[in-house]
Amino acid sequence: MEQPKLNTKGIRPLIPRHDPSPTIEEHNHLIHQLETLAFENHALSSIHILVAGVAHEIKNPLTIMKGFLQLIKPDLDKLQKSEIADLLLAEIQRTTNLVEEFLQLARPAKQTTERMDLIPFLKDMLLLFQSEAKLNKCELTNNLQKFKQPIEVMMNQGQLKQVFLNVIKNGLEAIRITNRKDGLISLSVHQHFHFVTINIRDNGIGMDASTQDSVFNPFYTTKEKGTGLGLFLSKQIIQSHNGSMNVKSSPSFGTTFSIQLPLLHLI
Ligand SMILES: Nc1ncnc2c1ncn2[C@@H]1O[C@H](COP(=O)(O)OP(=O)(O)OP(=O)(O)O)[C@@H](O)[C@H]1O
Ligand SMILES: [Mg+2]
Repeated sequence: MEQPKLNTKGIRPLIPRHDPSPTIEEHNHLIHQLETLAFENHALSSIHILVAGVAHEIKNPLTIMKGFLQLIKPDLDKLQKSEIADLLLAEIQRTTNLVEEFLQLARPAKQTTERMDLIPFLKDMLLLFQSEAKLNKCELTNNLQKFKQPIEVMMNQGQLKQVFLNVIKNGLEAIRITNRKDGLISLSVHQHFHFVTINIRDNGIGMDASTQDSVFNPFYTTKEKGTGLGLFLSKQIIQSHNGSMNVKSSPSFGTTFSIQLPLLHLI
């Protein structure tokens, strides 16, 4: 009987055969081929995710810095905004750290977590996006002022920052596409007994059901220049801190991302 043709990897396609069951030799050969393929695929996808992930995270802070510079250009003289200058410096530092980690791939940095209060952290995150939001005619609202006590979690701050940068940036992009002049991104925190929920809602373009099902898949993107890694990496980060991340969206109402994190007193 004629054997199926070898494909580009030198592997025979797995098509049904009409001859009797494979011999042990054929069976072992097939297993070896599958193992090789699986190993190559895994190695390749890890490298891709890593390389594209780092490049992606370098893009985000650069966009923010650009936004600030555009905003303050006309009144550079009146610039005495040390708070903003500090934030910009922190972004530059984060970018530098990522590149350094990338260069030291042989020794990946150990993930460290620290006790942190979500409220000032989220205020800083919104401050980072103020200028970009203004440029996109978008309002940023929040309910952070109602929290008089700290909301403490155990997190790696740099990674958590990465999550909010991704989600808020997506929200702004979803609003920009609609060209609407009443864009709105609202961030709300809800404290429960065991955990805290952070909702990030936008009135942007929204998603149909099939997009919604795919947003957390690696490399899924509907954008010309997107990597499709922002949400994939964000969900990984949240899950690695024992949290969860979900999305609800519709083309008419926009999108809400929900992030749940365990509160510190329960860890
Ligand atoms: N707020 C949102 N509104 C509408 N669609 C969204 C929203 N957030 C994500 N999406 C959809 O999910 C896809 C995946 O998002 P993700 O952040 O992972 O990658 P990306 O934004 O396409 O690329 P990158 O983050 O590299 O710029 C987007 O391409 C878009 O289709
Ligand atoms: Mg994105």
